Amino acid sequence: MKAVNDTRSYGWVSRIFHWSIAALILTAIGLGLYANALPHETQDELQLVFAAFSIHKTVGMVTLFLALARILWAIGQIKPRPLHPERRLETWAAEVVHWGLYAGMVVMPLSGWLLHAAAPGAFSRIIWPFGQRLPGVPESMDLSNAFAAFHASGWWVLAALIVLHVGGALKHMIIDRDATLARMAGNPGRVPEPPQQHHRASAILAAITGLLIWVAVAIGSQYLPGAEAEPETSGQAQPAETAPATVQEDQAATTDTQAASSAWVVETGTLRIAVNQGGSTVEGGFATRQAQIDYDPDSREGSVDVTIDIASLTLGAVSDNAKGPEFLNAAAFPEARFQAVIAPSEGDQLVARGDLTIAGQSVPAELPFDLVIDGDQAAASGKLTIDRRDFGVGQTYADESTVGFAVDIGFDLTAIRQ
Ligand code: HEM
Ligand code: HEM
Repeated sequence: MKAVNDTRSYGWVSRIFHWSIAALILTAIGLGLYANALPHETQDELQLVFAAFSIHKTVGMVTLFLALARILWAIGQIKPRPLHPERRLETWAAEVVHWGLYAGMVVMPLSGWLLHAAAPGAFSRIIWPFGQRLPGVPESMDLSNAFAAFHASGWWVLAALIVLHVGGALKHMIIDRDATLARMAGNPGRVPEPPQQHHRASAILAAITGLLIWVAVAIGSQYLPGAEAEPETSGQAQPAETAPATVQEDQAATTDTQAASSAWVVETGTLRIAVNQGGSTVEGGFATRQAQIDYDPDSREGSVDVTIDIASLTLGAVSDNAKGPEFLNAAAFPEARFQAVIAPSEGDQLVARGDLTIAGQSVPAELPFDLVIDGDQAAASGKLTIDRRDFGVGQTYADESTVGFAVDIGFDLTAIRQ
């Protein structure tokens, strides 16, 4: 068999490209759906999810580079002529689908790669040595969500195109009993030279239509209900792409409340946590808490009592897991609390020393923080690192391969003196 195509049949290079990419795309779809449907409650389950997504991504990347090579090859090739050019609409539809498939085999893996590269803390990796980020693609939750929405809608369109395409091939085989499938899959034999086709305008229109399908997906996916919600909120559907949610200042500000007796009233603030999951850092935060702060700038002493609403935690795609019985167990322990006295340390660093209560366990904790006071306004920030095992959190995750032991807690706030 010749390497190159002729007007009657595909050469072996085109055939290898066609069938290997067909197999890879079907595998990628299968793996994507499988990985998304897996349970992800326990450590073993999560590890399987990570592994399945890593293979999905790697298969997708191989597809992308093969597809690009295929397109370069196809540009220099003759396209075997349609066997029934007199069936104008059918021929045109087949061409539209071919163009849609060519575009789909690039934009689907590309959108996956972009959603992966933009996701802060995506923790199932592409299995290759070239890094996980892409130059020029910023780490951005919103950007990652936009590509994820395209990816999640796009696979339906790609699958529909494949169904039409395979349906067409089967129709040629079963109903028309012609050589269409044989010239891609086998030996077409001594078929007569297909008639010359002279419909340049319709070929151009087919190309434009095929490509417009993907433009429509790009636009439509951004407006579909829930499209922008992707990895964050769809729970079961988005286990692996942690899309960390740092609590927004304004969101935090509206939910901070203080008791009347508090000498300082928090105006804005964030309370963040970060934990290592599957090798990447996942960041999140608590939207709702109440703080009672007394502090005398002259003596540099005071007290703080913070109550945190566990249900308000967002932690990428694993928010629900983090609040579930294996971890913070929001149902049994709806609040965490930090009660401490404030005093300068020997090195003159301000420290809040007291008890941190998480998941019903109280552990002594020291929170060093920086404070700047300007008249009646104060800005403070600080961080501490705790070990989740001290609080009995994630006991079934006995090693650090899935969820790290250390949890970083950080806060920023501005407050006004009463
Ligand atoms: C798995 C079942 C599949 C079957 C039975 C099949 C069959 C065929 C056949 C018979 C042709 C030749 C059509 C002709 O000569 O006019 C063809 C062409 C083509 N197929 Fe498939 N195909 C399959 C899957 C796929 C998949 C998954 C893709 C890509 C996503 C794909 C992309 C294409 C493209 C782009 C062409 C046009 C090639 C060209 O002329 O440049 N096919 N296919
Ligand atoms: C041939 C290429 C690809 C196809 C056909 C494909 C298809 C799919 C499918 C069917 C899903 C499940 C969607 C759902 O259940 O809603 C999925 C999810 C996903 N894919 Fe791909 N994928 C491809 C390439 C890639 C690549 C290259 C990456 C990353 C490097 C990637 C990353 C992801 C991620 C992170 C998810 C889960 C997040 C989400 O659903 O938004 N994919 N993909």
